[in-house]
Amino acid sequence: MKKLLAMILVVCMVCSLGAFTAFADEGDLIGISMPTKSLERWNRDGSYLKEQFEAAGYKVELTYSDNDAVQQNNDISNMIADGVKVLVIVAIDSDTLSSVLKDAEEAGITVIAYDRLINNANVAYYVSFDNYTVGVLQAQYVIDALDLNNAGDKTYNIEFTAGDPADTNAGYFFNGAFDTLKPFIDAGTLKIPSGKTTFEQVATPAWSTDTALENFQNTLASYYGDGTVLDIALCSNDSTAAGVAQAIISDYAGDNQPIVTGQDGDIGNLQNIVDGYQTMTVYKNVADEAGVTLVLVDAILNGATPGAELVEKFAAEAAFDTETYDNGLGVVPSYLLVPYSIDKDNLELLVDTGNYKWDADNHYLVSTLG
Ligand code: BGC
Repeated sequence: MKKLLAMILVVCMVCSLGAFTAFADEGDLIGISMPTKSLERWNRDGSYLKEQFEAAGYKVELTYSDNDAVQQNNDISNMIADGVKVLVIVAIDSDTLSSVLKDAEEAGITVIAYDRLINNANVAYYVSFDNYTVGVLQAQYVIDALDLNNAGDKTYNIEFTAGDPADTNAGYFFNGAFDTLKPFIDAGTLKIPSGKTTFEQVATPAWSTDTALENFQNTLASYYGDGTVLDIALCSNDSTAAGVAQAIISDYAGDNQPIVTGQDGDIGNLQNIVDGYQTMTVYKNVADEAGVTLVLVDAILNGATPGAELVEKFAAEAAFDTETYDNGLGVVPSYLLVPYSIDKDNLELLVDTGNYKWDADNHYLVSTLG
């Protein structure tokens, strides 16, 4: 009798496994192309996307292309050959995917530009944050922290560090910050001792921390070696802010800590915020960005052509935008999530997202991802 029960149990287990496997096999294959593991946030995006799509029954092929645009082309080609239904892509270089995405178009694959717009290709939708607002938030933080509206005759010195020219987002971040601070620059309240006022002059290829470090060391040596005080290092994101903070620690002669801005909520940068080497970061909840992408893909694969009404279905606030993001072939309909400012006084908001927790000493934040 015992033997019979054991056999029935085994048969049931096999059956349920079979049923589960059959269900998973039925799921469409989604190709997710991430730029690199070396920039912290894409590890998080990749994990959340994979986790959420698989939980919804899809199969996922996830690739990282080592920040190499040629490799990303190959990775996407392979995913097309593997029969993906949808491609979710963070472009390494927004201008180098036209040809491979022509192949995707011919194979009837839906392409979603994730976080970064892809130029000159048939992109169905763009899912991102309001990128211009990211820069505005960085600038607004500076305006509030230094009370620039009531500065009177006081003047402050500021230097900019921007992102990768191959990334369509980088210009939006820089312009959002620069446009917002321009009235204070024009009025003489903010001065830029280096004279580097254009995106091209302060861009950081590949968003590299090492390049940002080196560039800022050069700026400090050339324009601040005589004791000139630096008040603000306006950095577009956390990977560049990490380099700039390092340069300030090693090469800045002044005894004040300049305001250092960032974006992303990378773990090392949050530690720097606790320790005082970085002042703020603009947070973008990438678990929500993944969630919005899943809802969008679900709708598309169910035959819909989603528009503004889809935002009702998102777990996070987002706007539907049909004006801002022209990729050369036309405006790409976009779902744009909402970024917000984090500094040492509101780190708890990050814990509230569920994506971070305090470490054992309750001192630094760590990720809740494995
Ligand atoms: C993203 C930022 C990120 C940067 C470097 C941008 O496209 O929007 O969040 O900091 O790439 O990874």
